[in-house]
Amino acid sequence: MRLPLVAKAFGAWILSYVIFKFGMPFITSPLPSSIIFMYMSLVTVAVLLFVSVFEDDFHSFFGPITSFIRGEEGDGVGRKMSRIAVFIIIPLFFGFRTYENVKPSFEAPFPQRVIHPAPPGEAAGFTNPFEGDEAHYEEYIQEGRKIYYENCVFCHGDKLDGHGIFANALNVKPANFADPTTISMLMESFVFWRVSKGGIGLPGESTPWDSAMPPWELILTEEERWKVIMFLYEYTGFKPRTWE
Ligand code: HEC
Repeated sequence: MRLPLVAKAFGAWILSYVIFKFGMPFITSPLPSSIIFMYMSLVTVAVLLFVSVFEDDFHSFFGPITSFIRGEEGDGVGRKMSRIAVFIIIPLFFGFRTYENVKPSFEAPFPQRVIHPAPPGEAAGFTNPFEGDEAHYEEYIQEGRKIYYENCVFCHGDKLDGHGIFANALNVKPANFADPTTISMLMESFVFWRVSKGGIGLPGESTPWDSAMPPWELILTEEERWKVIMFLYEYTGFKPRTWE
């Protein structure tokens, strides 16, 4: 039996989709849906070109489609039912897809967001002026503690675990300093840069879910910023990362 051209064309179209969607993960890696969309647009154009090259093909391709839409194909009841089904299902399907796409999402896209972006070159030059001043260490920590509980506690929490009273209202959540993936794997100069510039100072790769972290350089002096950072390390027991 020879397949009608419509069936061949749709078959080729669906087969291409199945290959892009389910076959590619075996061959290379899964394709992102935007790429699949692009490829499928090309396949659509190719199929339309193929069926419209010859006059006969053109009619045998579009003929059944137009006669189905006009209601000229098949027998009475079956024809009516299938037309109704098609005209209800297709709009519902696209309506649903559109709804799914425009529905706002409240999930922060964490995987794409860079939490520890590369700081600008000048950040590497920040050095703690109190480094090595053992005699006054306790004093600095006490001052840092005071600064923390006056400024940072609302978001970063009284146990420095990111569960401050504002934390639930924020998305991106405040950093949890007790977690070994935050300050313990960062250099002090990086932390100083982050504290100084806040969420606004983050480069593009860390947006669009902007962090509410304030730019503390507008509020705290440089010395206060260093002292509060020393307190963070003292309280959590972590050591800043160093070049060694
Ligand atoms: C309005 C809420 C808020 C306040 C107040 C606040 N922070 Fe933050 N902080 C955040 C948020 C949100 C982040 C972003 C976490 C992320 O990027 O994943 C953050 C991130 C940080 C980071 C970066 C951690 C990392 O792993 O890169 C440091 C360091 C930090 N805050 C220190 C402080 C200090 C010190 C203070 C007080 C002087 C403070 N924060 C006050 C909300 C706040």
